[in-house]
Amino acid sequence: MGILDKHSIIEKNATLLLILSFLVVTIGGLVEIVPLFYLDNTIEKVEGMRPYSPLELAGRNIYVREGCYVCHSQMIRPLRDEVERYGHYSLAAESMYDHPFQWGSKRTGPDLARVGGRYSDAWHVAHLTHPQDVVPVSVMPSYKFLKETKLDPNMIVEMMRANQVVGVPYTDEDMANAVADFKAQADPDADWDGLLSRYPKAQTRNFDGQPELTEMDALIAYLQMLGTLVDFSTFQPAASR
Ligand code: HEC
Repeated sequence: MGILDKHSIIEKNATLLLILSFLVVTIGGLVEIVPLFYLDNTIEKVEGMRPYSPLELAGRNIYVREGCYVCHSQMIRPLRDEVERYGHYSLAAESMYDHPFQWGSKRTGPDLARVGGRYSDAWHVAHLTHPQDVVPVSVMPSYKFLKETKLDPNMIVEMMRANQVVGVPYTDEDMANAVADFKAQADPDADWDGLLSRYPKAQTRNFDGQPELTEMDALIAYLQMLGTLVDFSTFQPAASR
């Protein structure tokens, strides 16, 4: 019996074909996927990336809670029009501390991966309060309640612990200083040395212009840091090094 005749046995037996196909797909899948969990360079290490500061993390949670990702992506594709409009294409490492990631799937509004530093804090306050005041044709809804919602500093420890569980490397020192760092970042009179040594490039100021620490402060601290950690004037992809 030739090999083709043997093959015809499989072709005539649907159950056998199904079982063997399943085996082939499983083995192929394992060979492709499993190494990604063990290779060191699955996510290329990029200088400048660090976990979110407590205030930025709180802002990120508000971003997720309010569903900003429904209208905004945070992933600049390596296509010329996108790179010209938004800046350097997004790197995997830039989402490495995002749980869940905020790549999004729809752009009713612009991509926000590099919106940090593009506008002033006052612009963001005005825009989030009533988008049409600064962009008359905007379809973005108002988030004015963020200015009136105070933030409870005690929830930040739990929030960071949850991120630790899924792999964000917050240290014992980060955890011990969480509440203090959280309050200090938006307080113009605070001592920021510790905060800046733990979270380099963290921006420190009163973000919403009000004395109280509000959700508006946290969200703007988050928006203003998006895309600012990696220095693309010196960055070179691993393949070209
Ligand atoms: C219903 C869709 C929608 C939702 C939800 C939405 N946006 Fe927008 N957003 C837009 C649109 C459209 C624009 C462009 C017009 C404008 O600037 O308002 C925009 C613009 C922006 C900009 C300016 C970006 C740039 O590069 O000019 C920022 C920042 C922003 N949105 C943040 C947010 C945040 C933060 C949230 C969640 C709290 C949010 N948006 C929710 C639709 C939305």
